Amino acid sequence: MWRKHVAVWFAGLFFVCSLFAIAVAQKRPLDVPFVPTPPEVVKKMLQMANVGKDDIVYDLGCGDGRIVIAAVRDFNAKRGVGVDLDPQRIRESNENARKAGVTEKVLFIEGDLFKADIREATVVTLYLLPSVNLRLRPKLFRELKPGSRVVSHDFDMGDWEADKVETVDNYHTVYYWVIPAGVAGTWRWAGGPKGEQQFRLELTQVFQKVKGMLFVGKAATEIRETDAKLVGRQLSFTTVRQVGGQQVKVTYNGQVNGDTIEGTVTISGQAGVRKWVAKRDPATVEGTWRWAEGGKQLLLTIERRDGQYFGMLVNQGREQIDDFYVWGAGVQFTIERDGKRTYNGVVRGDKLIGTVNGEAWVAERVKQSARRR
Ligand SMILES: C[S@@+](CC[C@H](N)C(=O)[O-])C[C@H]1O[C@@H](n2cnc3c(N)ncnc32)[C@H](O)[C@@H]1O
Repeated sequence: MWRKHVAVWFAGLFFVCSLFAIAVAQKRPLDVPFVPTPPEVVKKMLQMANVGKDDIVYDLGCGDGRIVIAAVRDFNAKRGVGVDLDPQRIRESNENARKAGVTEKVLFIEGDLFKADIREATVVTLYLLPSVNLRLRPKLFRELKPGSRVVSHDFDMGDWEADKVETVDNYHTVYYWVIPAGVAGTWRWAGGPKGEQQFRLELTQVFQKVKGMLFVGKAATEIRETDAKLVGRQLSFTTVRQVGGQQVKVTYNGQVNGDTIEGTVTISGQAGVRKWVAKRDPATVEGTWRWAEGGKQLLLTIERRDGQYFGMLVNQGREQIDDFYVWGAGVQFTIERDGKRTYNGVVRGDKLIGTVNGEAWVAERVKQSARRR
């Protein structure tokens, strides 16, 4: 009898141990080990992001909570949220918040930073790794509002150039970016002294870099990347045009709000400013796009879920594209096809027109009825 009891007891023990082993084995490994940011670098990060009373600061991979705690304690941020996969770090963060007397204003979440909902953040701080920053980049663009600021200790974001870079003690580097509004597309307005001239501005966008062409009647003026500046929702550009037989410098400055830009126009040699309101032609990137490449037909489906865009390559099955961005009426994505291929295009009617690795690229919208056939 006692032998049976011992056998049952051992079987039970074996079962519990197996469950424990499975749980440990399934725990997601850390993408980055814990290395704390020194206090003087924390200060520089929050200064560069200009953190103040209206800000909600998220530290993704928050370690012992020091950045979030400093944001609310020293910079008077409205709230701070830290996310870390390591429960030990979350315990330390809560303990440090208690010691700093800021528990009311902070929240520490045990979880994966790639799965955290960061839509309410106005400032995101990072101390991760270059490859982790790159994986995170599309999520930042998908979830953060234009004008939100991102600061990263030591690591950049690849070809998303920083808006500002500063060093601390000649050793630590802090990178700063502002999430730009989506301005790609065709914008129109009426101008001239009596509003008699029709203006058309065609813009393309790569992160915060903007360029295009301005058409006024039959005249076309190039807007080079160096002529335009996009910081959050604030777009400005300068053109040199013939006005009344004279060459003048015209500067546009406006705030982008969805499909409207509102601001002012300044003309060199003329006193005062004029009002400027531009509207973007209706265009949606959503839907399915088709193009041929290397003798093969490729299909891209763009879907909008919960206000966020996702791109899928639809060939054998649907494969979500990780590095995918929508900027207004423009789209950019990178896929692996005999090396990296980066596509950037703007919707014009039923076409997506742009470049792939710098060469011409045109995709056609697949009509619903044609898809069903
Ligand atoms: C280099 S430390 C930075 C800590 C803190 N942000 C600082 O600057 O002092 C990176 C942190 O990211 C956390 N981490 C790594 N991978 C993560 C993931 N996938 N999700 C959430 N946290 C993660 C680690 O546990 C670690 O605490």
